[in-house]
Amino acid sequence: MTGLAIAAHGLRKSYGDRTVLDGVDLTVPEGTVFSLLGPNGAGKTTVVKILSTLITADAGDLRVGGHDLTTDPRAVRAAIGVTGQFSAVDGLITGEENMLLMADLHHLPKREGRRVAAELLERFDLVEAAKKPASTYSGGMKRRLDIAMTLVGDPRIIFLDEPTTGLDPRSRHNMWQIIRGLVADGVTVFLTTQYLEEADELAHRIAVLHDGTIAAEGTAEELKRIVPGGHVRLRFTDPAGYRSAASALREATGDDESLTLRVPSDGSQRELRAVLDRLDSAGVEADELTVHTPDLDDVFFALTGGAAVPAQPKEAVR
Ligand SMILES: Nc1ncnc2c1ncn2[C@@H]1O[C@H](COP(=O)(O)OP(=O)(O)OP(=O)(O)O)[C@@H](O)[C@H]1O
Ligand SMILES: [Mg+2]
Repeated sequence: MTGLAIAAHGLRKSYGDRTVLDGVDLTVPEGTVFSLLGPNGAGKTTVVKILSTLITADAGDLRVGGHDLTTDPRAVRAAIGVTGQFSAVDGLITGEENMLLMADLHHLPKREGRRVAAELLERFDLVEAAKKPASTYSGGMKRRLDIAMTLVGDPRIIFLDEPTTGLDPRSRHNMWQIIRGLVADGVTVFLTTQYLEEADELAHRIAVLHDGTIAAEGTAEELKRIVPGGHVRLRFTDPAGYRSAASALREATGDDESLTLRVPSDGSQRELRAVLDRLDSAGVEADELTVHTPDLDDVFFALTGGAAVPAQPKEAVR
């Protein structure tokens, strides 16, 4: 083994004349969480489907679990588990029956299948719901059942395509705990997400997919260092005050609609005081002042072409 769970070089895929992946390179060391970020339609699901053998690439040197995807897809399939973007749960049968079906697909002997199903239902807090049709489950329960089903074959590498999209903050945190538990057991996790804070929380390494290639890759800290996103945000309720402040703070970028100014700043007390002093001299007072340190949103917007978008207050999910 190379110590790499996943290694892709020069991965290409087109649909008709639309090139979705135009030479993607990525490597994921064993036992780590790798997060693939990208706007809608960037090709995240396409990458997951290719690496999990569901569709074939047009080109690329691709290895998963030490096996070549082109010559040995069966060995790859035996090493991985996939939880797709859209649930694989059958709503007409119960959670337990879904689990037993997976056990059958993995050719587990009946007793063993029942044991594994019971253990996973317990682990994912689905014992009470186990005898109810899955169509009656909440989104979070369905997602947990999805992952439980993925784990039936005891895969060493799992692909999770947007595992928390549509979940409320509590269910999202539960899912994060589940993912951390998998990693603690030595499982390698390949995760796609729309949530930058999710990648920040979970991933050892993060890659941003944009325009068919990896626009940036690194740890969350490394990625934050590549963009200067730090600023002070000033909000006004009075348009006249907003205009006076804008002329006092020449380097600020403004949003006339929401009456907010964004002043580049390193967040230090010294720079903050300088901003306040200039507002004082101009005789204006902001109705709200927030200090914003660079985060993955800044990286994401800078790399995917939305740098001019003023930062919005974050959803409080942490
Ligand atoms: N079977 C297909 N036939 C034609 N085009 C496709 C097919 N599957 C995906 N595409 C196109 O490939 C591009 C990438 O799609 P993909 O689903 O991989 O994006 P994504 O990053 O997962 O997006 P999302 O965040 O919305 O899930 C899109 O433009 C999509 O329309
Ligand atoms: Mg997708």
